[in-house]
Amino acid sequence: MQIAEVQAKIQALSAELKEHNYRYYVLAEPTISDHQFDIKLKELEALEKQYPEFTLADSPTQHVGGSLLEEFKTVPHKRRMLSLGNTYSEEELLEFDERVRKSLGIAEVEYVCELKIDGLAISLFYENGQLSQAITRGDGFQGDDVTENVKTIRSVKQQLHGNYPASFEIRGEIFMHRKGFEKLNAQRAEHGEAQYANPRNVASGSLKIKDPKEVAKRPLDITLYHFLADSNPFASHSESLQNAHQWGIKTAEHSQTCPNIQAVFQYLNHWNEARHHLGYDTDGVVIKVNSFRYQEELGFTAKVPRWAIAYKFQTETASSTLLGITYQVGRTGAITPVAELQPVQLLGTTVKRASLHNANEIERLDVRVGDAVFVEKGGEIIPKIVGVDFSRRNPNSAPHPYITHCPECNTQLQRKEGEAQHYCPNIDECPPQAIGKIEHFVGRKAMDIQSIGAEMAETLYAAGLVKDLPDLYTLTFEQVLALDRVGEKTATNLIQGIEESKKQPFERVLFGLGIRYVGETVAKKLAAGMGNIDNLMAASAEQLIGIDEIGERIAESVVQYFSDPKHIMGIESMKTAGLIFTAIEKESLGDGLAGKTLVISGVFAKHSRDEIKALIEAHGGKVGSGVTGKTDFLVAGDGIGPSKLEKATQLGVQIISEDQFLELL
Ligand code: IVH
Repeated sequence: MQIAEVQAKIQALSAELKEHNYRYYVLAEPTISDHQFDIKLKELEALEKQYPEFTLADSPTQHVGGSLLEEFKTVPHKRRMLSLGNTYSEEELLEFDERVRKSLGIAEVEYVCELKIDGLAISLFYENGQLSQAITRGDGFQGDDVTENVKTIRSVKQQLHGNYPASFEIRGEIFMHRKGFEKLNAQRAEHGEAQYANPRNVASGSLKIKDPKEVAKRPLDITLYHFLADSNPFASHSESLQNAHQWGIKTAEHSQTCPNIQAVFQYLNHWNEARHHLGYDTDGVVIKVNSFRYQEELGFTAKVPRWAIAYKFQTETASSTLLGITYQVGRTGAITPVAELQPVQLLGTTVKRASLHNANEIERLDVRVGDAVFVEKGGEIIPKIVGVDFSRRNPNSAPHPYITHCPECNTQLQRKEGEAQHYCPNIDECPPQAIGKIEHFVGRKAMDIQSIGAEMAETLYAAGLVKDLPDLYTLTFEQVLALDRVGEKTATNLIQGIEESKKQPFERVLFGLGIRYVGETVAKKLAAGMGNIDNLMAASAEQLIGIDEIGERIAESVVQYFSDPKHIMGIESMKTAGLIFTAIEKESLGDGLAGKTLVISGVFAKHSRDEIKALIEAHGGKVGSGVTGKTDFLVAGDGIGPSKLEKATQLGVQIISEDQFLELL
């Protein structure tokens, strides 16, 4: 490609990806698959890496996060960032409406209702259509400049389109969807890290991380609901947001203009129920006078606007008695205290238990067994204890002693400095941890033994058949068949699945072992870097750190894992069983493809795709995921995607068949 072509290509790809981002994150109407998107993004990344001088300042690749920040600059707000008055009562809402109508001297006021999302307030500035600054609320007068972090949020439009004002501010909320939150917690559990309490905490915590690359990994979203400009071209709030939406800005969803307060009540009634079906938490509704002229006329009190109010959904509170505190041991050994309550009715369900999160929370509430407690259920699904009725406390009660030993295996608990959660360190023999370990090992990304799911892992463990990973490989058909509710077919499948797993490559076995901090990618790096398990077991932390992308934390965890004779013995017996503990030799077949990037597509007659991949790597070549300017060969099999072919032709990439590929070797 000519230099000018490269530049044009980068521009075109950037524009195309931005458009897809917008369709996906703002309009929620994607027109290509995630996979297709990723291919394009990788192509752009590759081009930008080769020609950094052509990278656009607002390139879609920048969502992966810029460089490390020293600290956040505190900057003054251009206009004070106020909060809202709020109410839980319909009467007070009627009073609000009355005040507004009286001040304005009119019979009916048009309002806009919006869902109140519980997140972190943010102020964005756009100059000539470019996102120029993002500031947190701070104390309302000044906040932190978190522009670089906010740029990593995919629903934040960095370059507007259409007819936008040259300079304006727009405020909103940064938040996290429940799904993203759960996924993040699951990932943390996999790495043995402490769990976050709720999406709001993560959202606000994430913006304070000094490494935008880390922030980029958090699934944050934004909703914008307050347009501000020195010379405001719009007549009303709804008009301003409709326009902002036209420029590509993600404005408040589910907002509605209501001709009067009665319509506001209908909106409240609807969402009081419907909110439970949203993918994110909302704790109320914000009601705003729609007309900007009226807003100006009403003005502000010292603290809040007179033209808006937040109506908070009723959270129901009930009294109950704390009968006891039990403890749950998670798959990673994390201990969660659970309040056992006198059953009580809350929002239509019987509540018997509530999470107490950790030892700090028990201390903070100063809750003791036998106490009369207040239990609350609101937007969240899980009820919580919000306080203690101290007036009813038994004078003889004593603070609750937190357990010191694991309720499942009686091992002494540990608590790392700076962490709220206690852990059971007995990772191998503590039942929930041992079962979790088996589940992880048989998982799709590890040994992929599909005939063993969570339930079967538990059954095998409970029956004493599989206490540890190596036991899987001594399991017999008869033993499985003897289990309750297991027929011949299930037993056959199970044994067959285990047998087939012996073919899994070293990196998967290594990942499957469940060593703390050794995720899929790290396992690949370790396998490639050390070549086989014996080298890995003998390696010092320093040697491990020498491997690309392996840091101190991982290295220490690996060394610690292999310092346990039990683990060494386990590996030896799995070796005997025939599992693969040697990486495919990378350079054993020569370096005929050194420096070359090949992309594989389609189905082949003589080899599987994985085999072709392994062959390329064994000859020193690299396997690319999408055809880019850096691709040397496209190995084309049957049913190859037409877009790949087209792109290869366009970019002048050589297209070869399986036979030609084998000749090349
Ligand atoms: S308007 C001067 N609209 O809730 C008007 N606020 O409890 C300022 N919030 O400070 C805010 N959703 O952080 C507005 N649709 C919405 C909102 C919203 C959430 C937050 C915001 C505000 C707080 C008040």
